[in-house]
Amino acid sequence: MTKFLKVMAAATLLVSSAIAAEYTIKLTHVVSPNTPKGKGADFFAKRVGELTGGKVEVIVFPNSQLYGDGEEMKALKLGNAHIAMPSFSKFTSLVPEMQLFDLPFIFRDKDHLYKVLDGEVGQILKDKVTAKGFVALDYWDAGFKHLSSNKKAILLPEDAAGQKFRIMSSHVLEAQFKAVGGNPQVLPFSEVYSALQQGVVDGAENPLSNFYTKKFNEVQTDLTLSNHGYLGYLVIMSESFWKKFPNDLKPMVLQAMKEATVFEREEAARDDDDMLAKINEYAKASGNLKVHTLTPEQKAAWQKAMEAIYPQFYKVVGEDLIKKVQAVK
Ligand code: SIN
Repeated sequence: MTKFLKVMAAATLLVSSAIAAEYTIKLTHVVSPNTPKGKGADFFAKRVGELTGGKVEVIVFPNSQLYGDGEEMKALKLGNAHIAMPSFSKFTSLVPEMQLFDLPFIFRDKDHLYKVLDGEVGQILKDKVTAKGFVALDYWDAGFKHLSSNKKAILLPEDAAGQKFRIMSSHVLEAQFKAVGGNPQVLPFSEVYSALQQGVVDGAENPLSNFYTKKFNEVQTDLTLSNHGYLGYLVIMSESFWKKFPNDLKPMVLQAMKEATVFEREEAARDDDDMLAKINEYAKASGNLKVHTLTPEQKAAWQKAMEAIYPQFYKVVGEDLIKKVQAVK
């Protein structure tokens, strides 16, 4: 960049940051800013500001500060918040078919997952959410989930027997833990730390980013890298808000979301390794946490026990949809 262009770019930035925003988008989420979703939300806010020359300001409310689980979608309906990115399980009562994503071991790997999300099945599910009066934007990623406990190491399905596990509000997750003799309890994300600390529940299932950024490592003694399920998000917008939003500014907001989706997914891919390193460091330094990996035989035992629940959900989720996912190569 020439000196002249640099000066012009700096001046544009100064002018745009000095302009008071004409429109505000309130974005609510329940996790730490330091997760892929949190970073993606902040990136989106920054890009909307840049692309609209400061006309639109996105205010991000992380950590359930504004709305927690179960409140976000109502807030969008009422127009009190404008964008949320709930995890798939939180769509259960709105679009029960979204529980497809909760089925244990449904995705072979990230490549399979993205082909499903960005393909026919992902579109079918977005259309169902749209039909319920939301603008369905993009799918974001948190990662594969792992089992943790403060009772004992969970290496085989029978180790989960009798343990109380926190789950999100999903019938699939309930059935998954019941299938291995566990006792599932629905709790909002904001209450998980204290529930683990006070023994209201013994264990949980989380991707590494949520596990570490919410300090669950401090209140769990054993973490098993089980990769048994998946946690992801659908970014949704308030339909009433979007209808009233100026047409000339819509393309910039959509462009910012497109870029944020790429960024968020890259963060999620990077994040798993970083988080595992930090968790291992904590485990070594504190001596309070053991991290376990599964042998192929142990993994197969989990798969067998948990996949047994699929037929229970053929009607709810749609057997055809499940088969479509399995057929994606
Ligand atoms: C989230 O990542 O948005 C929270 C997931 C959970 O409730 O476990």
